[in-house]
This record gives sequence, structure tokens and C-alpha cells, in this order.
Amino acid sequence: MLSVTYVSVADPLISDEDIAAILVAARRNNIRDELTGALVYNGHNFLQLLEGPDERIDACLSVIRDDPRHNGMVEVRRRAIETRDFGEWAMLYDPRFEWRDDGLARIAANGRIDAQDDRIFANFIALGRRLRVG
Ligand SMILES: Cc1cc2nc3c(=O)[nH]c(=O)nc-3n(C[C@H](O)[C@H](O)[C@H](O)COP(=O)(O)O)c2cc1C
Repeated sequence: MLSVTYVSVADPLISDEDIAAILVAARRNNIRDELTGALVYNGHNFLQLLEGPDERIDACLSVIRDDPRHNGMVEVRRRAIETRDFGEWAMLYDPRFEWRDDGLARIAANGRIDAQDDRIFANFIALGRRLRVG
């Protein structure tokens, strides 16, 4: 399996309804395709982690890349995994989750996860386990 994380720039006119519609479609398709992950939105950038079978990850990413509700998609992390971090989540999204210290904006501006972002990224990954049900 693969775990891929990207950042992108949201359409400036994106609404709460758009975000809700993205999540409905994402969760429906991801259940079908055995993909899991999490989405973060800071009012300007998206960060999304997607995990699952290699070829389905890349198929899904190319659909997402063409979505006009965002642009400038840059992969910041891609790795082979044995175990999922967000295994319970077709697409976890919690609007209360804040990316502290403007970390998401920095990752999006730099196009990569720097050493100073490592801890915050580890906290993000830990979300999937902390929120695990049952
Ligand atoms: C930031 C962002 C994240 C998205 N995440 C997913 C996703 O995880 N899975 C997915 O199938 N579609 C996702 N989408 C939506 C796709 O771009 C596309 O609209 C959708 O897959 C089309 O589904 P449909 O053919 O069933 O209508 C995302 C879109 C955006 C803008």
C-alpha cells in the first residue's frame, strides 16, 4: 500500500457547502476503492493524506488533481506502508483541527515537510489513532 500526502491551494471562493460536497463524494468513492485518509483545510490550503492500494491511490490523485476547487497540488510525502494510519476513516475531517504555528501554510509555501514540520506532521498522523473508535 501507499500513503501519499499533498498540499494544494483552495479556490478562493470555496464555500462550506463545497467542502461538505467534497467530503460526501470522497467518502463514497473511498469506501468503494478501499482508500482511507484525512483532509485538513486552513481557509486557504488543503492538506490531504490518502492511503490504500498503490494503483488506486494514483488513480484517485489524478482525479483530485483535475478538480477545479483547488490547484497547485504538490506531493510532500509518499511512502510504502504496511499498516494504515487512518484505517477507520474513509476521509477524516474535523473543522476544529488547527494546524498550529501556520504549519500548513508553510508546508504549502515550501512544497515540502521540513524538519520543523516533522513534529506537527507526527501529531497529525496520531489523530487517526487517537480518534479511533472502539
Ligand atoms: C481537496 C480535495 C480532496 C478530495 N478528496 C477526494 C478523495 O479522497 N476521494 C475522492 O474520490 N474524491 C476526492 N475529491 C473529489 C474529486 O476531485 C472528484 O470530484 C470526485 O472523486 C468525483 O466523484 P464522482 O465521479 O463520484 O462524482 C477531492 C477533491 C478535492 C478538491
